[in-house]
Amino acid sequence: MSKKDLSSLLLNWYNKNGRTLPWRIKGGAHPNPYIILVSEFMLQQTTVKTVIPYFMRFIERFPNIQTLAQANEEEVYAYWQGLGYYTRAKSLHQTAQIIMNDFGGIFPQKKADVLKLKGIGEYTAASFLSLAFNLPEPVIDGNVIRIICRMYGLLEPVEKIIPEIRKKALELQSLKHAADYASAIMDLGALICTPKKPQCLLCPWKNFCISQGKENIEQIPNKTKISKKEKFGSVYVIRNKKQEIFIRKRIEKGLLSGLYEFPWSEENLFPLHLCQDTNKEISHIFTHIKLTLHLFTIHSDIKPTNGIFVQPEELEKYPFSTLMKKVWQTYLKNKKHNL
Ligand code: ADE
Repeated sequence: MSKKDLSSLLLNWYNKNGRTLPWRIKGGAHPNPYIILVSEFMLQQTTVKTVIPYFMRFIERFPNIQTLAQANEEEVYAYWQGLGYYTRAKSLHQTAQIIMNDFGGIFPQKKADVLKLKGIGEYTAASFLSLAFNLPEPVIDGNVIRIICRMYGLLEPVEKIIPEIRKKALELQSLKHAADYASAIMDLGALICTPKKPQCLLCPWKNFCISQGKENIEQIPNKTKISKKEKFGSVYVIRNKKQEIFIRKRIEKGLLSGLYEFPWSEENLFPLHLCQDTNKEISHIFTHIKLTLHLFTIHSDIKPTNGIFVQPEELEKYPFSTLMKKVWQTYLKNKKHNL
């Protein structure tokens, strides 16, 4: 069966069985992009059932992008109260203002422009463009990942096979009916291809799904976490006679760039005889690595290059990563014990 036929099967199923939702009109793009914008923000971390009453109240109070852009922030928050994740409310409000001020009140239709708005990542940009403008952007969320992995019997950890899942999702997608297809695949994941007890017999793709009816279906997708690489190094809290602390700003691109830090390295930065060993280690897990730093303290008036000495009370004025905040807390705890 061709990919096009598969997508037609799904669209037919959706026409008959797709959910009726207050932000949805079947049969093409929604005529009002504002409705899609608000609903997609609300649905970012919240279930459909919870969102519905909040969505209705919100739209009644802020019926269009102008009203929302002009509203005061407190009132927007009030209408969000109970939904949680308030940064979403702030981002949605700012997005409305950006659309009014920078885009002349016209909703952007280019992905690069949509990504310039606040609080919109790849997923929301794709769902917004598909649902509001019928543009075939790949809408890939947990539901789609589950469906694709089951359909093609992909058993490897999801983290490892995202590009393959993406490719398959793109091939299946309907280019002509992007809006309905996006809604349809969301509904297939929510109603049929559920994490537990999927309703395979009712699935429009049952005859083409490798996993249908198989015992291991609930174990797909494979959510095994790939073990993080571990790295080790040393970190130094350097104090001078005035009890000031040495900090420096990271200049390298990438990991933690622009933030301040206590000097650290995977190699020893200072000769051991200058260092007092706290016997403490601080670990932090980044996306791809686990970094463990051994904490040393140093008393020195010689200022290393590329940094500054500041009073401990001033440290909070400088942005530090979570890892470096942990370093400072560990240092403070141990300072009490004269280390
Ligand atoms: N989850 C994210 N967007 C959704 C939508 N438009 N309908 C249902 N569930 C969703």
